[in-house]
Amino acid sequence: MTGPSPAAASLVPEARLATIRDGRRIAVREAGSGVPVVLLHGFPLDHSMWDGQWRLVAPRGWLDGVARLIVPDLAGFGGSDGPTSSSIAAMADEVVAILDALGCQEPVVACGLSMGGYVVQHLAIRHPARLRGLVLVDTKLEADTPEARAGRVDLSERVGRLGAGIAAEAMVPRLLARGAGTDRRVIETRLRDTIKQTAVATIQTALKALGDRPDMTAAAAGVSLPTLLVVGAEDMITPPECLERAQALIRGAELETIPGCGHMTPMEDPAAFNARLASFLRERVV
Ligand code: MLT
Repeated sequence: MTGPSPAAASLVPEARLATIRDGRRIAVREAGSGVPVVLLHGFPLDHSMWDGQWRLVAPRGWLDGVARLIVPDLAGFGGSDGPTSSSIAAMADEVVAILDALGCQEPVVACGLSMGGYVVQHLAIRHPARLRGLVLVDTKLEADTPEARAGRVDLSERVGRLGAGIAAEAMVPRLLARGAGTDRRVIETRLRDTIKQTAVATIQTALKALGDRPDMTAAAAGVSLPTLLVVGAEDMITPPECLERAQALIRGAELETIPGCGHMTPMEDPAAFNARLASFLRERVV
């Protein structure tokens, strides 16, 4: 994919391959020391959407000595082996297997964007003892509507016929806030390149997992972990109302709506996102 800016690139750690218990090798990047914070990417992306977050743990960064960032490519995405896990619940189990492979048994903060946020919700229900906090970014609790599910079936069929590029064409125009400008064009190019490099089988398996995911609104009421919700004010895919509904359900959840951002808040305004994540970790978790 198109790389991050030279300044950001110098902060992105090399990936290492962690072999999980079923034999799949998962590409993981890690930096920093302190509370483990796992960042889970959206669909159909990879670790690189979090390139702007490494400065948090760089020398004199807001979380220097406070947090250790752990950023995997989920199976089938980025540099990780497939096959892609076939359900969101299985992706949550995969994250636990990654932590086990890294020798990380202490509870982590799980932070995920959109599909990554669905995985975080399943982690909270399936593996609460492995968690100490949740960060749900540009995501929602509700299952797909029948129309949304049909849209995924249609996209899967087109990707099978025409390749991953068609997924980039369908998705990228809706990912970012409207404002023009160089940054937006650079981010669009990076997203397009990442999506085009994603295997067709990965996109199709993940689309099925996304369409089949259950409604998590009832389960959310049982969450008792410190929780931060973040959304871009112009998110067209999971608009602010989705996170407002989540806040009403999750006890004590804090909500931050970041102006000028769409569905990719950590990429669109890394400074605002990082400041909010850092204050949540320092005030509610560490
Ligand atoms: C994502 O960004 O991960 C996707 O938009 C999730 C979805 O399609 O529900």
